[in-house]
Amino acid sequence: MIIAIDGPAGSGKSTTARAVARRLGFFYLDTGAMYRAVALQFIRQGLEASLEATPDALSNLNMEMVPGADGLTVRLSGEDVSDLIRTPEVTAMSSRVSQLEPVRARMVEEQRRMAESESAEGRGVVLEGRDIGTVVFPNAELKVFLTADLRVRAARRTAQMGDGEEGAVRKEMAQRDRNDSTREASPLRRAPDAVEIDTTSISFADQVAQIVALAGERRRKGRV
Ligand code: DC
Repeated sequence: MIIAIDGPAGSGKSTTARAVARRLGFFYLDTGAMYRAVALQFIRQGLEASLEATPDALSNLNMEMVPGADGLTVRLSGEDVSDLIRTPEVTAMSSRVSQLEPVRARMVEEQRRMAESESAEGRGVVLEGRDIGTVVFPNAELKVFLTADLRVRAARRTAQMGDGEEGAVRKEMAQRDRNDSTREASPLRRAPDAVEIDTTSISFADQVAQIVALAGERRRKGRV
């Protein structure tokens, strides 16, 4: 079974998707972390986020997503970069590189390959990102679109960062929302058959419980 969870930055996708995967014993794939790793690759090679620079960055890309006890470890050329990909510099760059069509094509290919190899072994997969239900797995058995007010999302992200200034985080998030939803290549949008869950005022436990219940329903209907 494939579960696609999409939504804007700070909508609670990562924590929710991780918890759902743990509850169901599914493989969890954070596709945003993959775009972040590519962004770090561009930065490390001193490249601009441009179409001209893309072949250079992609031909040297050696990225691994390794599942572990507390989530995914992201490796770039063998180095654990799980923390490095969360810096503001990489965050801003990830928004730019994710607009490049060849970058998206490579990421989508890798996402499908990883999820299909887990499925082939009989394991369910939870993928989380912006285009999972629309592009990567349009036939996913369950699609969820998470939303929340910008203010709430910015407050959550600031708390997560520990040292951010909420006003600045909100501005940066609004800019990223605009980039993500207006770009030409696979813009962020809700798939018509996705279940929308607004997390502004529901608890984290409720979000997870709702998705786990939906997964159970789909499974019972034989749509596994
Ligand atoms: O979810 P995140 O903040 O870690 O994502 C980082 C960037 O990658 C964000 O600007 C949107 C982009 N992204 C994307 O375009 N498609 C995805 N499936 C996942 C993330």
